[in-house]
Amino acid sequence: MPIIKQMDARLADMIAAGEVVDRPASIVKELVENAIDANANRITVDIEAMGMKAIIVTDNGSGMDAEDAHLAFLRHATSKIAHPGDLNHIATLGFRGEALAAIAAVSKVTLKTRQKDAEGVYVTYHGSSLQGEGAATLNEGTVVEVTDLFFNTPARFKYIKSEQAEKHAIIDIFDRLALANPGIRMTLTMDGNMVKQTYGNNDFYALIDQIHGSRMTRDMTVFETDIQKIKLTGYLLSPQINRARKKDVHLFVNGRTIKNYALVQAVIDGYHSFLMVNRYPIALIHLVMDPSLLDVNVHPQKTEVKFANESLLAYHIEHQVKNALLKKNHRLPEGLKTIASETIGDIHIQQLDLDAPTRGDNQPAATADTPKLPTFDYVGTYAGTYLIFQNDEGLFMMDQHAAEERIRYEHYFKALAHPVKATRPLMIPYPLNLLNKDLDQIRHHRAVFIAHGFDFDDDVTLTGIPVWLIEDEVDIAIETMLSMLEEKTEIDLSVLRDRLAKDISCKGAIKANQPLSRIEIDGLVANLKRCQNPYTCPHGRPTVIKLSEHEIERMFKRVI
Ligand SMILES: Nc1ncnc2c1ncn2[C@@H]1O[C@H](COP(=O)(O)OP(=O)(O)O)[C@@H](O)[C@H]1O
Ligand SMILES: [Mg+2]
Repeated sequence: MPIIKQMDARLADMIAAGEVVDRPASIVKELVENAIDANANRITVDIEAMGMKAIIVTDNGSGMDAEDAHLAFLRHATSKIAHPGDLNHIATLGFRGEALAAIAAVSKVTLKTRQKDAEGVYVTYHGSSLQGEGAATLNEGTVVEVTDLFFNTPARFKYIKSEQAEKHAIIDIFDRLALANPGIRMTLTMDGNMVKQTYGNNDFYALIDQIHGSRMTRDMTVFETDIQKIKLTGYLLSPQINRARKKDVHLFVNGRTIKNYALVQAVIDGYHSFLMVNRYPIALIHLVMDPSLLDVNVHPQKTEVKFANESLLAYHIEHQVKNALLKKNHRLPEGLKTIASETIGDIHIQQLDLDAPTRGDNQPAATADTPKLPTFDYVGTYAGTYLIFQNDEGLFMMDQHAAEERIRYEHYFKALAHPVKATRPLMIPYPLNLLNKDLDQIRHHRAVFIAHGFDFDDDVTLTGIPVWLIEDEVDIAIETMLSMLEEKTEIDLSVLRDRLAKDISCKGAIKANQPLSRIEIDGLVANLKRCQNPYTCPHGRPTVIKLSEHEIERMFKRVI
């Protein structure tokens, strides 16, 4: 007697539903994506009781006819792809034809829809079985109402996290969808209260302010570039606005919000040395590329995407972010509030200057002849560490160690830009301490290493290193070179230089509490002024803080 039976469709649907709808937020995502695919330019999301009671998504998109309103609930039923070849160039957010079937399998759903110049219809499903259908009155578009979520899968219900967690997950997905679609007016209400609303007028400044909070785009850096055939646009919020978590680095590919660890990390690395350790930027990266260069069919929720050339893309993103931030004249952190470090919710703002100019009369873009640091005169040193300066704008305090770290970091960065190809013999040969696999690689690529200035007596002992390399950095240099050889079969010196400069700056072996002579102080200031980013040390701490004359007068109550 066989014991294996094919499942009936309803059971199979319930199991499959788990991959698509694991929590209320994923229903919000699927329904809004359907509305976007239907070319809506207004989408409203209404949530009750964290989505457990009701999720209602209303759009003004194309709508469906009566027949499609039924077909939409079948598993693997879609209007978006038809042939295997279509999988190679998916231009819509949906394509698997599973979402409505999956949602209906675990909840009670009513879909009302009306096409232009047609009558409206509705269909109702409870846990995949048709409960009712008929005529409906509504505007052109579609309304999907999901109630009693997980009423028939109590096990799933139990896994729902705290109310707060579900609420955040919904807001999070809404934010991503809204940021990905600047041309769609989106509204989110929860239990009748308006939570977020965007204008849908394609203005990224307004959009980001609406999603992340007002005045977030002050000092935002925007860049646009082409990398091979990929169009890359970045919106980089000022490093002074930062977060404790990584989740506000948003990636979008062809309008789809995606997760990709390597690319998020590339953005964070681009902010390296502008941000403190364990603080993360808020940034949006939009990629537009030929759909055949990526695979979105990795996971049923379609949030993971594989790129044909991920590491190269990551490398370019990091450099674009870094260069764009370097080009900008950031402000010196100013005033006492800086020092107290305002915290608003999770967002950490190092400066709050309420009468500062808003966008439009923004800071001028940096040019070669606008100095990034003002000219000031030395007044004295406090606590053996903080150099005090003044000019007619106010007082300036410089952390001499932070300044020196910045200077060293940029020095190494430059030194490695055009490394001299010469070998420096080692007094004491250096046995490489590597895995066998790596030693094999070195043997294999011996000629490449020698061409870059290394020398070996046998194949595991170094007798010479390139002149630009510090002895402390040998291991990391070799490891980095090996991983490049593995990935790309050649050594990219600019990537190597980046890695090394970062590593050097992390070691930061800089004298503490050492009094500096006047000549040294002048040298330090002159060198800091020559830096591309004089504002922060490589770990993101400020190098200079300004106390404006106005601020000082306020402290003494000369002005209010
Ligand atoms: N809001 C909507 N407006 C118009 N058509 C929709 C909407 N939602 C779903 N549909 C139709 O129902 C089909 C099935 O939707 P879904 O189950 O989400 O699968 P997919 O989006 O992967 O095609 C879609 O292909 C589309 O034709
Ligand atoms: Mg869909």
